[in-house]
This record gives sequence, C-alpha cells and structure tokens, in this order.
Amino acid sequence: MNPEVAPQEIVMQMLVGAWVSQTISTITRLDIPDLIKCHGPQSAMQLTQVHGVKADTEFLSRVLRACASVGVFTEDADGKFGATPLSDVLTLDSSVSVKKLAEIFGGTWWQIWAGFPDALTTGQPQTKNQLGMEYWDYCQANPKEMADFGAAMQSNSLNSLRGVLKHCDLSESKKVADIGGGFGHLALELVRKYPHLHGIVLDIPDLIPIAKSKIVNEPEDIIDRIQFIGGDMFEDVPAADVYIMKLVIHDWDDAKCIQLLKNCHARMEGNGRIICVDAVLPPIGNVSGTAAKFLDINMMISCPGKERTEEQWQYIYSQAGWKITSIQPIYDNYGTSIVEGIKS
Ligand SMILES: C[S@@+](CC[C@H](N)C(=O)[O-])C[C@H]1O[C@@H](n2cnc3c(N)ncnc32)[C@H](O)[C@@H]1O
Repeated sequence: MNPEVAPQEIVMQMLVGAWVSQTISTITRLDIPDLIKCHGPQSAMQLTQVHGVKADTEFLSRVLRACASVGVFTEDADGKFGATPLSDVLTLDSSVSVKKLAEIFGGTWWQIWAGFPDALTTGQPQTKNQLGMEYWDYCQANPKEMADFGAAMQSNSLNSLRGVLKHCDLSESKKVADIGGGFGHLALELVRKYPHLHGIVLDIPDLIPIAKSKIVNEPEDIIDRIQFIGGDMFEDVPAADVYIMKLVIHDWDDAKCIQLLKNCHARMEGNGRIICVDAVLPPIGNVSGTAAKFLDINMMISCPGKERTEEQWQYIYSQAGWKITSIQPIYDNYGTSIVEGIKS
C-alpha cells in the first residue's frame, strides 16, 4: 500500500472501479473505440450524428470525458476524443482484443452480480433469480448471448492460449479432445502447431454451428483434422489420448467436476494426459492472486463453481483416478495455471 495515499482515497478508487467498468463496457457495446480507431479523433456530436451512435450527444460527451480521464481515449480542447493503447484493446481487430469480454462484463454479468448479496446469504448462485434460468440455458435461449459469450471466451483465451501452446508438448499425442471447448480456438491452434494431431471440440449442441462457421476459412488440412461434437460432457466424452478443459472446471461444484474427470478417465486412450487450465489459488494466509479471487466471486454468484487451491485440485483429481504431475502458471488475464495429470 502506498503510504502517500490515504486509506479512504484507496477505498474510494476501488468503489469507483465499478462505475469505470460499467462505463467502459457501455462505450464498447456502442463500438465507439472501433469508430474512433477507424475515423480518427471524433466529438460526441460526430459520433451520434455522422456515425449513428445511439446516444444523447451531451451525455455521451460527458461519458467520453470520463473515459479520457482514465486513459481510454485522448481528449483535446475542441472536445474531440482520440484512440489510445487502452481504447485499442477494446476494438474488434486488436490482436489482443478484450472487446467482447468488456461488453459482457457490463451486460449480462452486471445483471447477475445484482444477486451478490443473495448469493452470500444463501450460499447459492443467483443466475436463475436474475435471468430467469441458468446461464447455459439462457445462452441456448438467446443466440446472441451464446455468440457473444463464445466470442468473449475466445478473446479471453488469447493469452492463456499462448501459455498452453508454450508449455504443453503434444508432439507425441494423437488426438486431443477440448471439452467445453467453445468456438474451438484452442483445438484449432494445437492442430495448427502439430501437423499430425487430430482435435475434437465437445460443447453444447447449440454452440456447435456457430463454432463451425468460425473455421470455414481455415485451410482444408486443418478443417479435416478438427471434429465438432455437440453433447453433454457429464454424460460422456469422446475418446482421446489428451483431454483439455480450459476454464471449464471452475464452472462446476466438486461432484460435477469429479463426474466429468471420471468420464475422461473412462474414455482415455493409451497412457494419455489430462490438462486443465484454470486458476490455482494460493493457500489461506497468502494474499496474492487478486484477479482469480474476484473471478471466484463471479463463479460463486453466477454458477455452482469456484476457483480452487492446489489442495482442492488434488482432491477432485484423486477422486476421479488422476494424479497431478505439474502445475504451471501462465500469467494470463486471471493468473491461471495449467494443471496437468495422468492416471494414478
Ligand atoms: C467458460 S467456457 C470455456 C470455453 C473455452 N474452453 C475457453 O477457454 O475459451 C465453458 C464452456 O463449457 C461449455 N459447456 C457448458 N456445459 C456443458 C456441457 N454440459 N457439455 C459440454 N459443454 C458444456 C459452455 O458452452 C462453454 O463453451
């Protein structure tokens, strides 16, 4: 803690953080970072009147001024707002884009977080109370949410994906199954890296057509080696010699995770591996891991899941017949790790 800054100032900055988050999300949903990147510095009037942004001009000007004060946009004396490195990551074509994540943070997730006090009181997630149904059902009932969520996960994956490519050697593997693989972005990169490797992406049936449509422009050789399967991972998983689950285990309670890990165990071909990519929280008494600890609250409120300590990971692995062989941090958005294991 910086001794120069009074505690009440620090706490006020933390409280204002919720407003900053919602503001960034809202301007991103209006595509303003993309418009400014494409057309150069713009006034609020130009954005609403020339580019058709659906906003009240005077309100928008005040919102952009607030954004500029935290480094998202420059602001000049003529009231024009320009691009910055921070606004760039909120654009669709940034190579490290977090646009879709920013949109969803202030959209459905913001709505679900309204249930935080009830979650804390009852010990139950609140998505059903806030959205009328569980999140995956909500996605299936709302194709736009499904597409946006998939894109948000893809955008979130950029850093963690690099970590998996760097640390997981699949040169000896034949078939990798990405369980809950979303749009298949990880399987795709693995198959691209290893020309002999076949990839399977298992996800909920309604997501599969969207995922397939995303890879149509890939070379034939890649498309031929990727198979998309719609199904329920708690019922069964396809046979493979490597299972990857990235940001999947943290969505579920221990009983569901153990069932899922047992399904992979039962279908594993040869002496394969299981690779889960999720947070590994430090033990009690260690105050590091802020991003993962707040992600844990998101899981607490939104699904029956949680982030786990190494001890908790060991428990679910061992209950399903696996043993952990390594835990490799990959320093991505949430400080996640690769938890790799083999049959025990
Ligand atoms: C948090 S996302 C992670 C997506 C992807 N692995 C990634 O890292 O970008 C969890 C995924 O699990 C999928 N999922 C949820 N329930 C499932 C089920 N019963 N069977 C298969 N997939 C499921 C969701 O559709 C979603 O794509």
